[in-house]
Amino acid sequence: MNWTDGTLKASFEASRDKPWTDGFATVHPDNLDSGPLHVEGELPEELRGTFFRNGPGRHELGQARYSHKWDGDGMVQAFRFTDEGVRHEGRFVRTAKYLRESEAGHPLVSAFGSALGDQGALDTDIDEMNVANISVCLHGGELLALWEAGSAYQLDPYDLRTIGLKDWKSSEPIRPFSAHPKIENDGGLWNFGADPIAGELSVFHINQAGDVDVCRRLKIEQLPPIHDFAVTARHLVFILSPLVFSVDRLRDGVPFARSSSWEPEHGTRALVLSKEDFAHRWYRLPPLALFHIGNAWEDERGTIRLDFMGADDPRSMMSAWSVMTGQYRHARGSVLRLLTLPPAGDALMTTPEGLGEGEFPVVDPLSIGRRYRHVLYVGRSANRPANLPGWDQLVAFDVESGRTSEYNFGDRWFIEEHVFARTSDAGPAAWIVGTGLDMARRQTALLVFSASRVSAGPVAVAYLPRALPFGLHGTFVPASARTSNR
Ligand SMILES: [Fe+2]
Repeated sequence: MNWTDGTLKASFEASRDKPWTDGFATVHPDNLDSGPLHVEGELPEELRGTFFRNGPGRHELGQARYSHKWDGDGMVQAFRFTDEGVRHEGRFVRTAKYLRESEAGHPLVSAFGSALGDQGALDTDIDEMNVANISVCLHGGELLALWEAGSAYQLDPYDLRTIGLKDWKSSEPIRPFSAHPKIENDGGLWNFGADPIAGELSVFHINQAGDVDVCRRLKIEQLPPIHDFAVTARHLVFILSPLVFSVDRLRDGVPFARSSSWEPEHGTRALVLSKEDFAHRWYRLPPLALFHIGNAWEDERGTIRLDFMGADDPRSMMSAWSVMTGQYRHARGSVLRLLTLPPAGDALMTTPEGLGEGEFPVVDPLSIGRRYRHVLYVGRSANRPANLPGWDQLVAFDVESGRTSEYNFGDRWFIEEHVFARTSDAGPAAWIVGTGLDMARRQTALLVFSASRVSAGPVAVAYLPRALPFGLHGTFVPASARTSNR
């Protein structure tokens, strides 16, 4: 199906009787703001701040409809919790790509999963392709919309206005700047960028004041695309799936997302890098398709413990194309894995028994890189119909006891990432916020849980007037946090 000539768009339109397709439809910029929301249940008195989310929101332009669910322009949303209740607003990130293509009325450059018959990232400056659509974080008082292969975009946290590409005032380009930076308790931020074309892994540290104090590039043999990483007190941890990237495929006009082949015989590699001197060590793991990492920490003897979502093969990733046509057939995806990396000796990976499929693992921001108990993720119940994509559970897993606490939403819901919400800069998070699509009402909802009582279900549900396209990642910023620009 051709994504530029209207055939893909027509196929999707013919499937719009399926409520889940609301999450992959496009939204007009005028329909992004919802204003004050009606709340069912009770919003916690102490919960004050803003829940920011990002995700692809413009999947279509002119006759074109992107063929991959992660191609669309970034749509940043803010749910603002105040004494008056909760208010919702949204804006598209005004990237160079968004502005140029809006003017033209059709796509001008290739996207991650949809090529325009050119050589994609080989032909084009990467920030010309940047859609800033994966995540959003607040660092040094600045709100950043993040993609994976390019630079960060800076937004105004108060009105979501796009300020422009983030200027780090560094002599080195701070890109690629991935969508999963880790902010530690001292306010410092670690991030990385994987460039499989150059075979180069970049590592950055930005201190609390916003100054770049580490920019290091490492050559890695057979570097696959990497989406997420982990930090501990003394190390950075990368998990490299057996995806073999081919520049030749890109040169032949194949989209970036299809330029890697799954070669399980190579196994998975784990790379542990010292934060101090970048000395590194490698581990071998069974072949795994890596999704997201929850957290990692290391004990006094230097043994690193980490949890992540991994699948035995990348088959489930194929649905990222099929949902854009309006079709879905479930293939088993990732489950939670626990990994132990001793300072010397082999890696040990276990798959806790009795857990179903899951994704979007998160921990309390206070625990990033430190010993922790609970990882929170969205799960898929075993009996969810095979023609229904998505998630219908919220699961809190205790990595020490192996116990879970979960809430089942049922088939009516397609649940998105949930994150811990802290009410102040000190102390653990008492609340959880997230979004989901109620497929019976065909409306997106904001959901609030007590962090200590996940299984009791949401304490508050606030519906938006419409369904919005599914997002990817978000963050909760307490009202006490310092923000810039005003
Ligand atoms: Fe991600």
